[in-house]
Amino acid sequence: MTLGVNIDHIAVLREARKINDPDPVMALAICAQSGADQITIHLREDRRHIHDEDARRIIHASPLPVNLECSIEPSIIDIVCSLRPHRATLVPEKREEVTTEGGLDVIGSFDLISNAIKLLKESEIEISLFIDPTREAIEASERLGVQWVELHTGSYANLYAMRHSALPHSHHTIEPLKLPRQDLDNKIEQTYCALVDAANYARSLGLKVAAGHGLNYQNVTPIVEIDTIEELNIGQSIIARSVFTGLATAVSDMKTLCKR
Ligand code: PXP
Repeated sequence: MTLGVNIDHIAVLREARKINDPDPVMALAICAQSGADQITIHLREDRRHIHDEDARRIIHASPLPVNLECSIEPSIIDIVCSLRPHRATLVPEKREEVTTEGGLDVIGSFDLISNAIKLLKESEIEISLFIDPTREAIEASERLGVQWVELHTGSYANLYAMRHSALPHSHHTIEPLKLPRQDLDNKIEQTYCALVDAANYARSLGLKVAAGHGLNYQNVTPIVEIDTIEELNIGQSIIARSVFTGLATAVSDMKTLCKR
C-alpha cells in the first residue's frame, strides 16, 4: 500500500503567523527518507495554506511524485496545467468548509469536470477524482476517462472517532453520539462495506483506487486490509503526531501501518 503524505498542515501552521516558517519544502526530504511514496498538496481557491509559489517549489524540489489536489475552477486548472504535477486530484471545494466535505458531484457536474479533464490530459497530467464510495460515482468516473479514483473515507473516519475516542468532537458527532454503541457499530460496518464494494467495483472497471480523509493511526488498519485500494493520502493525523514525535517518526509509523 503506497502512502501519500499531505503536507498542507505545515503551511496551515505557517499561515497562523503569516511568516515563512515552517516551510513545507523542508518536509519533502524527510517524508521521502521516512517511507512516504508521494507528496500530496491542495492548492485551494482561497489559498488558505498552500500558495502558488509553494506548489511550484514543491513540484520542483520533491524527490517523490506530487499529487496536487484542486477544484475544477478554470483559473485553478490553468495554474495546475502550468505547474505540471505528476497527478491532479479533482476535489469539490466550498469556501466556508474547514476541510473537503464529501466527494465530487461527478454526475451533476459531469460536463464541467470533463472540461477540466480535457485540459489536464493535454498537459499530460495523470488524473484522479475524489468521490464518495458509490457505484454511480464510479461509473461516472469511468465514463470521464480518468486513471484514478480516490474514495472519500470521511464518513467511516467520523463514525470511528465517535465510537472509539473519549475526546469531545466537532459538529459532525452531535447526532450520532446519541446513538447506542451497537447502532454506531452497524453504521461503521455499513460505511466500511461501502468502501470495500466501491474499491472492488472501481478496480473491476480498470480504475486505480486511492482513499483518504480522516485516516489516522487508530482507524487505518481496516482500510489497509482492502486489497483493491492501492494508495492512501493522509495529512492531518501525521502532521499532528509530528508535533510530538518529529515528522520522520510520524511518517514511518504510518508507513508501517500501511504495510500488508
Ligand atoms: N485526500 C483528499 C482528496 C483530501 O482532500 C484530503 C484533505 O486535504 C486528504 C486526502 C487528507 O485528509 P486528512 O488531512 O484528513 O488526512
